[in-house]
Amino acid sequence: MMKKYVFGTPFETEAVIRDIPAESSAVPYFALSTHNGLEFSLELESRDAVYGLGESVRGINKRGYTYSTFCADDPNHTEATRSLYGAHNFIVIEQKDRVFGVFFDCPSTVNFDVAFTNADKLIISSDNTNMYVYIIDGSTIYEIIREFRNAIGMSYIPPMWAFGYTQCRWSYLSKDEIREVVRRHRELHIPLDAVYLDIDYMERYKDFTIDEENFGDLEGFAKEMKEQGIRLVPIIDAGVKIEEGYDVYEEGVEKGYFCKDAEGKPFEACVWPGMTHFPDFLNPEARQWFGAKYKILTDMGMEGFCNDMNAPAIFFSQNSVDKTAQMVKEKAGKEFTIDDFRELQGYLGSRQNCEEDYSGFYHDTPQGRYCHKDVHNLYGYNMTRSAAEGLKAAEPDKRFLLFSRASYIGMHRYSGIWTGDNHSWWSHILAELKVLPGLNMCGFLYVGADLGGFGCECSRDLLLRWLSLGIFTPLMRNHSALGTRYQECYRFENPEDFKHIINLRYRLIPYLYSEYMKAALKGDMYFKPLAFEYPQDEVARHTEDQLLIGNEIMIAPVYTQNAMGRYVYLPEDMTAVRMNAGKLTLTEMSKGHHFVEIAENEVVFYIRKGKAIPLCKSAETTEELNTAELELIGTGDEYLLYTDDGMGFDFENPDNFRLLKK
Ligand code: GLC
Repeated sequence: MMKKYVFGTPFETEAVIRDIPAESSAVPYFALSTHNGLEFSLELESRDAVYGLGESVRGINKRGYTYSTFCADDPNHTEATRSLYGAHNFIVIEQKDRVFGVFFDCPSTVNFDVAFTNADKLIISSDNTNMYVYIIDGSTIYEIIREFRNAIGMSYIPPMWAFGYTQCRWSYLSKDEIREVVRRHRELHIPLDAVYLDIDYMERYKDFTIDEENFGDLEGFAKEMKEQGIRLVPIIDAGVKIEEGYDVYEEGVEKGYFCKDAEGKPFEACVWPGMTHFPDFLNPEARQWFGAKYKILTDMGMEGFCNDMNAPAIFFSQNSVDKTAQMVKEKAGKEFTIDDFRELQGYLGSRQNCEEDYSGFYHDTPQGRYCHKDVHNLYGYNMTRSAAEGLKAAEPDKRFLLFSRASYIGMHRYSGIWTGDNHSWWSHILAELKVLPGLNMCGFLYVGADLGGFGCECSRDLLLRWLSLGIFTPLMRNHSALGTRYQECYRFENPEDFKHIINLRYRLIPYLYSEYMKAALKGDMYFKPLAFEYPQDEVARHTEDQLLIGNEIMIAPVYTQNAMGRYVYLPEDMTAVRMNAGKLTLTEMSKGHHFVEIAENEVVFYIRKGKAIPLCKSAETTEELNTAELELIGTGDEYLLYTDDGMGFDFENPDNFRLLKK
């Protein structure tokens, strides 16, 4: 049961698409204060748990910290980080005698103080007094999530090939460099389905252009790659470069499709291309205009896109650097003190993505003119909606791969997300594992992190261990930043170790795809915390470094360096599946605690008692997988397989389900 409560005049975000009448009574469960914006508070007992918040740092149970949902462009994902790229205001509160969900549908910042300021209080607050609050009641966490997900609409479904292993780098600088990446994978028989084109494929970082010198005849190149089973996936950034003669810029200015500053001129900010304008994605006409541009690239054979810098990221605006310049001028020639230095340093550092800039531009929406800061969290969502609608118009019968960095609930219907600029840190393997269930709760099923880590240097063991988690994430992409050590699998010793791990991913695709589709069709979770599945088991409730994948598998990856293996908790008897040098060995294990030895080049996962999963033979691309010949492993006798053509939209066809028996 989902109920809606209205505060002020909320912006219609279209996160919830089911028609729910507004209640006239007060929001239940919470004490409300309106002294300073809106503040909802709730007493928590020590055993109570708070789950959700989608893309956020720290635990699966969010207790013990303060989070802010403000789509951020922040590459430092540490325990201190309050906001990441997504703004996902959905939580489920599990208390002694009740469990309920709450969604704050508010496009600007909402703060979630989860028993941080007061150890026994949940306080949710916002300066924005215009929002919808939805309360979702149900008897289990899954029921609440299903109810919420049904109200926000079905999650995005990528093409089947997007379940393959994919390789990225900021940037491969030419077609030849990409040819080499593909050649090395093929030569070593490491499966690969796609390579990404990061910003350098463009001419001076201008969206929908091609750097003719290094990426000329992209169409021919896409064909050449396709012959080798490789798809190309370009990046598209939110900012449109200001440059005379550049058609996207000129059209946008002429038609008034860019966000405006206070004087009504297109707002200017610096991102990768230099000074840019931001398309006003909250204006349906602008959205349609920008979305239609993707066809320029699909006509060249591109089959997927990655939407980036769409918080939107702002390095600086002219206005903010002018102020800095003024400050420097005032200090020039005078004695420079340590305080001056600190002031200047702090000032410059805070110019990036600063509130002043976000307060300085406007959107013309069908609901009226809005200052950006009041609708900030909808920008990436609507950029991606623009892309999805454009792709649908360009090729209505085809699924495209699409994922975005910034997001809001509602965007899950249009695309997946990746979790942005992480680091080659061991703690980020665990951080990824913990963020996955929360994302699923909010509807984002097609998700994954930059495997191996984006920032700083990746080591061989880190990549091996990270891939052992990555083989279970729908988006499986190895990506790294400019200036860091190259981390394609073949750059390291004994590349066959990587091949075996990625082969296992391909063997599991019939299972992973089936479970993904079941979760999408029913509004269920693909990544489940043990706490949700075994709520009566106190150890399971507190286990935050293991996950269930679909209905049959449990994973417990290694996330520490130089480890022999790890402690694993089995909440029930399970079959351990060990992959060593491509061979699988099954061992029955009993409920309880175990130390499981896992070498760097091994993967161990667990099949639940009485369940079975299908495996196919591996292949070097998803298209070569033979999903007709499946082997069932585990103690169960049957498995309900989902298959379809992997490209079209006939999802609900009952013929897509087939009961496999041993
Ligand atoms: C951003 C993206 C990253 C990309 C880079 C250059 O940092 O998050 O994935 O490689 O921009 O385009």
